[in-house]
Amino acid sequence: MASADPDRPEMTPEEFRLLRELVYAHSGILVRDDLKFVMERRLWPRLEALGLAGYAAYYQYLRYDEGRAAELEASVEALATHETYFFREPLQLEAFAGELLPLLHVRNGRQKRLRLWSAGCSSGEEAYTLAMLVQDARLFDGWDVEVLGTDLSRRVLAAARRAEYGPSALRAAPPEALSRHFDPAGPGRFRVKDGVRAAVAFGHLNLLDPNQGQLVPRMDAIFCRNVMIYFDLAARKRALKLFHDTLVDGGYLLLGHSESLINVTADFELVHLKTDLVYRRPTRRGGEP
Ligand SMILES: C[S@@+](CC[C@H](N)C(=O)[O-])C[C@H]1O[C@@H](n2cnc3c(N)ncnc32)[C@H](O)[C@@H]1O
Repeated sequence: MASADPDRPEMTPEEFRLLRELVYAHSGILVRDDLKFVMERRLWPRLEALGLAGYAAYYQYLRYDEGRAAELEASVEALATHETYFFREPLQLEAFAGELLPLLHVRNGRQKRLRLWSAGCSSGEEAYTLAMLVQDARLFDGWDVEVLGTDLSRRVLAAARRAEYGPSALRAAPPEALSRHFDPAGPGRFRVKDGVRAAVAFGHLNLLDPNQGQLVPRMDAIFCRNVMIYFDLAARKRALKLFHDTLVDGGYLLLGHSESLINVTADFELVHLKTDLVYRRPTRRGGEP
């Protein structure tokens, strides 16, 4: 197919290899062999913004220029997939709300504290959804509840903090959740209510940076859905090590539907819930439900 932009240069296989390695080393995102044209198309606006004529010059910029750290973020930003929406994967959320939250209510009843993490939260829909489910469970009123949402991209985090969404983000939101948890914010747009927003904090975090990972507090449950699908095996293992270290004993790990830990790690045990399978960091004592 002819290039849509006649000025856009072609990326040589060697440029593709070098740029792909840089992006991978920074983010864990592995651009597949057959997606050179996608990389070419998505990075071209960056070259234009910097006034660079070709991908070799862009690679040099990412390696050696003073602005390389910010530009590496911008390139990962351009290549990452940020697709997300409220109440994604309803059966899993049903299992979480109906089975895991009551368990956590009993387990944490003494300290009355609940910590949830949406790792790779994109523009915040998943983190806010979790806070809404916690609120609707009516088991945690008066508790110290915090949902942490983190992402590698500062642009999506800024959108998450704005908490204002349009029809696409809300396409799977049940009507009663829409009226309970959102205020109208102009034609077709809705803003998450303050009560839910108060329970959610957002932060910039690269799941592959062990120094940043150390700063995350212990979690009762982690959602990392549709993030590691873009990682290769080594990057998945690194992120999973962080999740294992961050979860409390018996804490839960919830992945996207197409994701499994088979042949990745044996650090988690599989838990069969009524409508879903989730992972759990084993307790030292064993035998928890
Ligand atoms: C497809 S979205 C998933 C959003 C949400 N979890 C969901 O399932 O709807 C993937 C997100 O992971 C983020 N991401 C990719 N690599 C990351 C990394 N190394 N550290 C943190 N976030 C990362 C991307 O920026 C993107 O916003």
